This record gives sequence, structure tokens and C-alpha cells, in this order.
Amino acid sequence: MPEGLKERTLILIKPDAIQRGLMGQIMQRFEQKGLKLVGCKMMTLDEAVLREHYAHIADKPFFGGLARFMQSTPVVVMCWEGLEVVDAVRKLTGITKAREAEAGSIRGDFAMSQACNVIHASDSPENAELEVSRFFKEDEIFGYDKSEYTHVYAEDER
Ligand code: PPS
Repeated sequence: MPEGLKERTLILIKPDAIQRGLMGQIMQRFEQKGLKLVGCKMMTLDEAVLREHYAHIADKPFFGGLARFMQSTPVVVMCWEGLEVVDAVRKLTGITKAREAEAGSIRGDFAMSQACNVIHASDSPENAELEVSRFFKEDEIFGYDKSEYTHVYAEDER
């Protein structure tokens, strides 16, 4: 399989989506797009992982509230694979401020908040690699043939 098809991205289903029963619909969006799920688990985020994951916003006034929110329930952590998947998933996700996110995107359809915006998605292939290794051990990522790939991608893309 070409390396391009193995690009990975990290998604967190946030506590608002867990509480509101949106997990299945969110996963369905990625499945419908033709992406391949290669890792999925539930976990409680401890202080250490939160500090690392949100290091770039640690000095923002909203950091404390965001950290408390992210620890209010376990989150679902997923790794999805596909061609240029980081960009594709960012488009499916919509912008951070969910009430302004484009209709049809996940945040645009399901959320109103900047923190309670249902999912986190990696913002670049470099960050995606870091985030996948932050949340998953190597043996928690699975390789398998996805038979629908012959219909999701053209011959010269797979
Ligand atoms: S993104 O989607 O990660 O690129 O968004 P970004 O703008 O970089 O924001 C990083 C995370 O900070 C959260 N955020 C906020 N929380 C509370 N209040 C305010 N004003 C706010 N602005 C941004 C946002 O939900 C992002 O969380 P994650 O978990 O990374 O999606």
C-alpha cells in the first residue's frame, strides 16, 4: 500500500459529545467519508497528558476551564487513516468556534461553543504523528486491508 494512504490523524471525542450521545454520529461521518479506523479507545486524560496536549495554549485565560472540561468525563481517542487525511478531517471538523463553523461540518452541525466543540482534530501531519504517539501505544494501532478502498480511491491513488 502506498505510504500516502497511511497518513494518520488523531481525533478526540470531547466530553460534550459523550454527554450528548453524539459518539456514533461523529464516527459515522468519518466512516462515510471512506476513512479507515486504525485505533480507538476510551481514556481519562490526566494532568500530564493535558499539559502536553495543550502546551501551546497553556498561558491562555481559558486553559484552566478547558482542562477541567476535558477531564469531566473520559474521552474517546481515535486514529483514522487515509490519503491526505489530516486536511480532509480538518475540513469535516469545521473551525474551532463551533457556532460559526460551516453547516455540514461536524462542529457546524453539532455544536455552539469554542471549547465544547465536540471533537479535537490534529492540525498538521507533523502534529498528527506526535499526537498519535502521545495517545496510543504502538500495539494499539491496527493494520488491516479495507476492502472498500478499491471503491474509495482511484487506481492511481492506491
Ligand atoms: S484547534 O481546533 O485545535 O485548531 O483550535 P485552537 O484555536 O488551536 O484551540 C486549541 C484548543 O483550545 C480550545 N479553545 C478554547 N477553549 C475555551 N475557550 C476559548 N475561548 C477557546 N478557544 C480555543 C479549542 O476548543 C481547542 O481545543 P482542542 O481540544 O484542541 O480542539
